[in-house]
Amino acid sequence: MRHTIGLILGTALALGLSANTVLADDHAAGEAVFKKCRACHSIEPGKKRVGPSLFGVVGRTPGTAEGFKYSPSMIAYGKTGAVWDDATLDSYLASPRKLVKKTRMAFPGIKGEEDRKALIEYLETLHD
Ligand code: HEC
Repeated sequence: MRHTIGLILGTALALGLSANTVLADDHAAGEAVFKKCRACHSIEPGKKRVGPSLFGVVGRTPGTAEGFKYSPSMIAYGKTGAVWDDATLDSYLASPRKLVKKTRMAFPGIKGEEDRKALIEYLETLHD
């Protein structure tokens, strides 16, 4: 009996550890993809570069970071009731101009689906 419990605990621990490792790997992968964004985006609250800060971007209405001057098309996109979530970010980051015509973000997009997924998971961690 004791042996069985030990086995179950041991297995649970091993599974828990490997799940943690996978999460850490994903975070590192997303952070690596974010290198493509860093020239134009900071992850500090309110600190703009060529683009707005991406702190808290997940859940934000497009075109509403305070103090940043967006293109009229990004503001118009936000007024459609859109929100930056998994789906809208995936679409924008795959091909910015396809989702927001005339966006000022001069970036061709990220082709790899896995890269976008890891990147969006990383963006999700940027909040209080
Ligand atoms: C060459 C500079 C540049 C690069 C590189 C860049 N961006 Fe941008 N980004 C901008 C600009 C400028 C805007 C504002 C666009 C507008 O107003 O149309 C923007 C807007 C955004 C928005 C909308 C934010 C909001 O507040 O509505 C997101 C999300 C975003 N970028 C994510 C990214 C990610 C993720 C990457 C890296 C894969 C990236 N950008 C790469 C310049 C850049």
